[in-house]
Amino acid sequence: MIKTQNKIFYICGKNYTYAMYVNDMGFLQHAYYGKKINHNDLLLYINEVCKKLEPLKEDLNLDFSLDSMPSEFGCFFNHGDYHEPSVIIEQLDGATMCRYRYFSHEVKDEVIDIAELPHARGCGQTLSITLKDDFSDMEIVLNYTVFDDCDVIVRNAEIKNVGHTAIVIKKAFSFCLDLPKAEYKLLRLHGRWAGERIPEITPIGHAVTKLQSIRGQSSHQMNPFAAILKDDCGEDVGECYGAQLIYSGNFAITAEIDYNDRLRIQGGINECHFEWELDPQVNFVTPQVALCYSATGIGQLSREYADFIRGHIVNSQYVYKKRPIVVNNWEATYFDFDNERLFSIIDEAAKLGIDTFVLDDGWFGKRNSDATSLGDWFVNNEKLNGGLKALTDRCKNNGLNFGIWFEPEAISEYSDLYRVHPDWAIGKEGVEPARWRNQLVLDFTRKDVVDYIFNAVSKILKDNEISYVKWDFNRNISEFYSRRLTNQGGFAHRYILGVYYLAEKLTKEFPDVFFEGCAGGGGRFDTGMLYYFPQIWTSDNTDAIERMKIQWGTSMCYPLSSMSCHVSACPNHQTGRVTPIELRGTIASLGATGYELDLTKLSDLEKLSVKQQIANYKKIDELILKGDLFRLSDPFYGDFCEMIVSKDKRKAYFVYATRNERSKNVIRLKGLDASKLYTVNDNMTFSGHALMCVGLPLPVMDKNMCLSLTICEKISKSTDGARYEF
Ligand code: DGJ
Repeated sequence: MIKTQNKIFYICGKNYTYAMYVNDMGFLQHAYYGKKINHNDLLLYINEVCKKLEPLKEDLNLDFSLDSMPSEFGCFFNHGDYHEPSVIIEQLDGATMCRYRYFSHEVKDEVIDIAELPHARGCGQTLSITLKDDFSDMEIVLNYTVFDDCDVIVRNAEIKNVGHTAIVIKKAFSFCLDLPKAEYKLLRLHGRWAGERIPEITPIGHAVTKLQSIRGQSSHQMNPFAAILKDDCGEDVGECYGAQLIYSGNFAITAEIDYNDRLRIQGGINECHFEWELDPQVNFVTPQVALCYSATGIGQLSREYADFIRGHIVNSQYVYKKRPIVVNNWEATYFDFDNERLFSIIDEAAKLGIDTFVLDDGWFGKRNSDATSLGDWFVNNEKLNGGLKALTDRCKNNGLNFGIWFEPEAISEYSDLYRVHPDWAIGKEGVEPARWRNQLVLDFTRKDVVDYIFNAVSKILKDNEISYVKWDFNRNISEFYSRRLTNQGGFAHRYILGVYYLAEKLTKEFPDVFFEGCAGGGGRFDTGMLYYFPQIWTSDNTDAIERMKIQWGTSMCYPLSSMSCHVSACPNHQTGRVTPIELRGTIASLGATGYELDLTKLSDLEKLSVKQQIANYKKIDELILKGDLFRLSDPFYGDFCEMIVSKDKRKAYFVYATRNERSKNVIRLKGLDASKLYTVNDNMTFSGHALMCVGLPLPVMDKNMCLSLTICEKISKSTDGARYEF
């Protein structure tokens, strides 16, 4: 709900309030972000306290500085706001001075539709505040969209050139949040290939801390998410603020404690490699950020983000649709396959209850290694005798659906496409390009290139019975250069706009195809990509022990249903670790589950276990899609334990996996209804209160063992004669 009165702006969600006001000099100031507070109480407070802190006169020549006043946006290169700015706009003569003051505002009962960028959708209400520069023909519109069903505020900024001369935007952040003095820590999700989204918490010092990617994608190394933890905030207690950019390209989020011990957090497009020429009468729209507040710890922040992503980011057509249980041939065969080998996997998959076979890399051009053929999106008939039809028929005869892998943004130098269009690869003549994984990147800033790829991918999807696409991207960008652009500063942002354009076009053209995102594992696992693809391959590391950590970290701000999680072979291909198939299956059940191994090589006992896993998954998949996640024991410090509880608190799924020689034997559950009676795995009955206060007694378990339990409300026969069952 949004209320405005005397230029005081009051935004109120389920459990939070956000407030700002225009001061006597016309500057938009931040007033409050925190626990929900009554409108009148806040009005009184702002009038009594905030407004009195300022010089009362309108005389801007007074010796006063905006440095000590909490701003809504860092856009005062005049009057001394010496924090990092949110925007830098350069006039024709090089001048960057600016002083943006309130001009107007409006409230609309809808979200903002940004055509070229992923954005929050569904029902929402938006407040737009326009600021005008005193010195130039520039305006900045700050947008705030709020929702009834989650504690998230979506913000972004629109930079408008309303004048008659072109200007250059050198920095364009999406949001800025000034918070009062407190002890603040910063939670970020850092990582690497095969080890993505590892949570790290550090105090924020008196300097600018910058989380960023300059790799052309959101990256394995740093996720475009940060949480500010206040004072003693932990998993279930204390206040925290999240900032999650709905963006998949070069980003930055900075946190800065100033000389007054106050915090400014802000973020958006990374200014490195960025410079945007803005013609007269044209706007530049920054990516959105999803801000989230929780008064009850990081766990609640995660649940709010999960609700937001499911309710307002992922396409509603897929979000609650049961996910295909796939077998993917990558770790089973890598590039070394032919029809017969794939047929045997398909046949076995059908026997085990798997519903989709996904053909990974290696089916096109002359691709028998990673050195060739990217861009040649036509089937390798020498390798696949009978083409894709032979495979789709085999699937169909077995009652399976068929999925296929593409890497639309990449091009190999050894490819027909490169021979004809060498200039379609990004880079500059005379400068040796980096050839990570032996490949180059297509110039997605060019519409003709993207349209060509659209047609090539579409042809495969149209000519064959395909229900699933895995869209991969296996390298970072190192040459931010297009042969076609006159201003290379626009390259990085235009590149990701090209990716979004293709993703939008393909998903619209093929609404019945289910898309999974991927970037060398989880190198582009972000809310921007989730707008187009409901799930993303979480990591190339499929080792169950490493996956506990990766999935735990990913769950900080993404729903379980967005994580694609597969059971792979043993010893694990990435770590060499040996783990029981039960453990691998259980950890993979905490997401969109699937298999990534040669099913024909499993023993009879293992096959039995896979069948059981699939049958069990079908009982809990609703919870994975819609439930609330509660993290119980952190795998970075000991055993792993999580549970998912249905919104009505009648069902739950509990997973415990040991990292230690012997596990502790009682664990307190979370998220249940204290007043309800629950049966655990159909054979024990406890009250919700006891399970949450005393805890669930566990059997003694050895290292790498796991326990998965279903918890279900017990309804006595006398009430309605029925039991609630999985
Ligand atoms: C990286 C992906 O993460 C893998 O799952 C696989 O698809 C390979 N690329 C194929 O090249």
